[in-house]
Amino acid sequence: MNQIAVKEAPRSLKIRILRHNPHDPGSSPHLQTFELEEAESMTLFIALNEIRQTMDPSLQFDFVCRAGICGSCGMIINGRPGLACRTLTRNLPECITLAPLPAFELIGDLSVNTGKWMRGMSEHLETWVHQRDQDKADIDRLEERMEPDLAEKIYELERCIECGCCIAACGTARMREDFVGAVGLNQITRFRLDPRDERSDADFYSLVGDESGVFGCMTLLGCEDYCPKDLPLAAQIAFLRRRMAATGS
Ligand code: SF4
Ligand code: F3S
Ligand code: FES
Repeated sequence: MNQIAVKEAPRSLKIRILRHNPHDPGSSPHLQTFELEEAESMTLFIALNEIRQTMDPSLQFDFVCRAGICGSCGMIINGRPGLACRTLTRNLPECITLAPLPAFELIGDLSVNTGKWMRGMSEHLETWVHQRDQDKADIDRLEERMEPDLAEKIYELERCIECGCCIAACGTARMREDFVGAVGLNQITRFRLDPRDERSDADFYSLVGDESGVFGCMTLLGCEDYCPKDLPLAAQIAFLRRRMAATGS
């Protein structure tokens, strides 16, 4: 006898969002709950859009690519940092709590200014190719051939999308405003590997050889646990620390 598949009724989701507009003196942080019916393959991006389109056009959150590439949709999802566009509601309970990433300037509701933080980190660590002889810093020089294995290693580290999840998950970053975090230490490893960058190890280590860098890390491992790109962050930090200890930097 043929069995007729019975389709389960869609779940009713309760999405609680931490709302606050820091630019409005009358605003104070509060949780607001929205109820909506779960759709098939619904992501938090889809759910938030539905809330904004049908319930509250003032809700603030950031999305660009919807594909885990731009890094703009990081938020705290039931207490853990993650990318909303890559999070399926079916993997979450019916009650979902969303909050903005901590450690970044709040723009409003779920929107934070990760770009400002990342630019500060990048300027502090000078995350660009440095060449001592500026006359040589022409396009031909920058395009010199690189061994494929090395290019692959650099590419692996360049997969970072600067989403800020590692910063939100890191106790040190929450306590020290000057901590460059796993994202910054990843950048140092990336440029240290790059043969076009003529900075010495000592130059690199001087940028991260204090408590705002390698020695601020308490090996809490939240960065690696919540990096949506699965970058080997803890191993890189441990490597930098060992190298610096070995060279007395
Ligand atoms: Fe995001 Fe991972 Fe880059 Fe941190 S290291 S910013 S968690 S992609
Ligand atoms: Fe923070 Fe990661 Fe170190 S969570 S303390 S940077 S291992
Ligand atoms: Fe780009 Fe989520 S919208 S990573």
